[in-house]
Amino acid sequence: MSEPMSGPTAGPRTHRLRVLDVIAETSEAHSLVLQPPPESADRFAYRPGQFLTLKLPGPDGKPVARCYSLASSPHTGEPMKVTVKRVPGGYGSHWLCDHVATGEELEALPPAGTFTPPSLDHDLLLVAGGSGITPVLSIAKSALAQGWGRVALLYANRDESSVIFRDELRELTENHPDRLLVLHWLESLQGLPTTDRLSAALAPYADRETFVCGPEPLMDAVEQGLRTLGTPGARIHRERFFSLSGDVFETPSVEERTTAAADITTAQHVNTTAQHVTTAEVELDGETRTVRWPSGTPLLDVLLTAGVDAPYSCREGACSACTCRIVAGEVKMLRNDVLDDQDIAEGYALACQAVPLTDRVRITYS
Ligand code: FES
Repeated sequence: MSEPMSGPTAGPRTHRLRVLDVIAETSEAHSLVLQPPPESADRFAYRPGQFLTLKLPGPDGKPVARCYSLASSPHTGEPMKVTVKRVPGGYGSHWLCDHVATGEELEALPPAGTFTPPSLDHDLLLVAGGSGITPVLSIAKSALAQGWGRVALLYANRDESSVIFRDELRELTENHPDRLLVLHWLESLQGLPTTDRLSAALAPYADRETFVCGPEPLMDAVEQGLRTLGTPGARIHRERFFSLSGDVFETPSVEERTTAAADITTAQHVNTTAQHVTTAEVELDGETRTVRWPSGTPLLDVLLTAGVDAPYSCREGACSACTCRIVAGEVKMLRNDVLDDQDIAEGYALACQAVPLTDRVRITYS
């Protein structure tokens, strides 16, 4: 049975999270301990290394979106926690550090992101710079709590006062002396972490799956250093910081119809004189839906309009939260700042940027 899907029909995509605590980690960084409402708990299950997109009141009254990595681990029983470091001249980080207090509520999209190890049982190399420690700490704690592998973590900072989570890292090292090695790199003492110097420091761990988060020059130096040691690029995962410019909370408006999987036989490719329409079969959360996908329209817009709770964050091709895989048919991406050639060759695409090229396309989010 087909249901008419005219205009925005889905409910609110953000959820209200209660602020259980605000922790001053350093003079520049605050952690917000958050609790989703019981009815949204399932939507806020997350993987280590993922992030939340928070909805903040903007300076002109319009909402703005800001993404913050989760520093907590989903495997230790601790509550969900994001850590925010003040960015010079940045609006969102200052607003959060200055205005949010215990007991208040923040609106957020569910966790998203692909900066997460496929297995916690392998040995890992983790590299963080400054507040880039946030997702890296989540991965480290998860690997130690849930997996079997060893973890080497190199953490670069300007000086000792900028080290976030110093006590937590020390405690983790004490509790897992045989599995966790933390190497602090303080620029005030050791100088800049250049490619050559990083290459020397990371050489013993160059055969490991590697996760890097921090300033772009640090990530470049780590990647170059590891590649000179022979680490394949596919084994080096980088988390990018990006800033959002549009209103990602606005519901797109695409006039289309959607059918349940059982009705696929009735769903036909539709050719109109005005607009070519592709039939898309989408598997998400164990359910398969068929939607009609007008040419030139991003897949994510079609899904959100149809009431499908598809993951996303930036809607600008910059974060990878909306990554899906094309199983059959072809698409092209209008913009892509995150997927590399190998990802694309393996069929991955950004739903927020994918437009159809063939009459039928099959997509999976699993
Ligand atoms: S939502 Fe960020 S890349 Fe698509």
